[in-house]
Amino acid sequence: MKAVVLRSAEAALRRASSSSCTSSHLLRRSYSSESHPERKVAVLGAAGGIGQPLALLMKLNPLVSTLSLYDIAGTPGVAADVGHINTRSEVAGFMGEEQLGQALKGSDVVIIPAGVPRKPGMTRDDLFNINAGIVKSLCIAIAKYCPNALVNMISNPVNSTVPIAAEVFKKAGTYDERKLFGVTMLDVVRAKTFYAGKSKVPVAEVNVPVVGGHAGITILPLFSQATPKSNDLSDEEIKALTKRTQDGGTEVVEAKAGKGSATLSMAYAGAIFADACLKGLNGVSDVVECSFVQSNITELPFFASKVRLGKNGVEEVLGLGPLSDYEKQGLESLKPELQASIEKGIKFAHQN
Ligand SMILES: NC(=O)c1ccc[n+]([C@@H]2O[C@H](COP(=O)([O-])OP(=O)(O)OC[C@H]3O[C@@H](n4cnc5c(N)ncnc54)[C@H](O)[C@@H]3O)[C@@H](O)[C@H]2O)c1
Repeated sequence: MKAVVLRSAEAALRRASSSSCTSSHLLRRSYSSESHPERKVAVLGAAGGIGQPLALLMKLNPLVSTLSLYDIAGTPGVAADVGHINTRSEVAGFMGEEQLGQALKGSDVVIIPAGVPRKPGMTRDDLFNINAGIVKSLCIAIAKYCPNALVNMISNPVNSTVPIAAEVFKKAGTYDERKLFGVTMLDVVRAKTFYAGKSKVPVAEVNVPVVGGHAGITILPLFSQATPKSNDLSDEEIKALTKRTQDGGTEVVEAKAGKGSATLSMAYAGAIFADACLKGLNGVSDVVECSFVQSNITELPFFASKVRLGKNGVEEVLGLGPLSDYEKQGLESLKPELQASIEKGIKFAHQN
């Protein structure tokens, strides 16, 4: 029974892997834990809508040896539940600020889905006032207890929470730009799904880089670079795919009608991105995914693009590649909004 479950889990992860920005690194996945180093992953906000399925998916990841689940409430139950799954990692739940240090200590990767999600009619920026404070306090603790960890920021607005984290780490003297990531993977996941549906190519083979930021028009999918190539898509169809990718989060928020935003697809995207980070840390070569990172590929200080991951986090921020005229236009239009969101985050970090 155990072997059957593991084989089907492996098959599912292989399918997921082959749809990733670069797939070869993930195809080397193995369920043998012997060859993998010890890795501690902490999830902050682990009892939430994203946190719970993300905890489950990280428990299925054989690269994880310790899974630390932290939230202000509810983590003992989540940890007890997930902890009964017979995979490699040891699971521990931590609740309340006094246990945050213990939850973080020794972490290699910290994933942050803590905060409030959107309701219909809200933009990601409307979450700023609450989530900025949460992210800031969590990052102060990260700087203290696991300053070398790779930080995967999911909490919105990512365009501002990543700059907040950077400022907190700078103030603490622990900032390493290679180790801070805004998780924009869900935009990539959506772009792949929508592109495959429209162009009738097998979704598992699809690759679409998504650049810019993670809100509305700052999300810029580069369908001109999508593979496998589809020559059948008209300009109008590319525009519609772009808009659907940009509005994907709102589509889910409206469908959930007040009960939150994307959680399951976000947990999947977060798990795929954390897996890529772990593979990079473990020295697997050619791990490339899109992420919102400190960047100089445009004039903006943070920007999402393909990045090569390695033993210290970001090894290389890859350039944008050739853009269509429509994408060039999209790139220029997104810059003022993205710049303003970055500045808002930096200002918050300095004033609070
Ligand atoms: N990056 C993305 O693509 C993306 C996609 C979807 C949602 N999000 C964002 O992820 C965040 C979480 O969404 P959700 O649907 O899981 O929300 P949720 O309300 O279901 O869960 C959030 C969890 O965070 C916890 N929390 C609150 N303050 C905390 C603190 N100080 N320390 C630790 N935990 C704390 C809450 O107790 C709760 O369990 C939101 O900001 C949402 O906008 C990002």
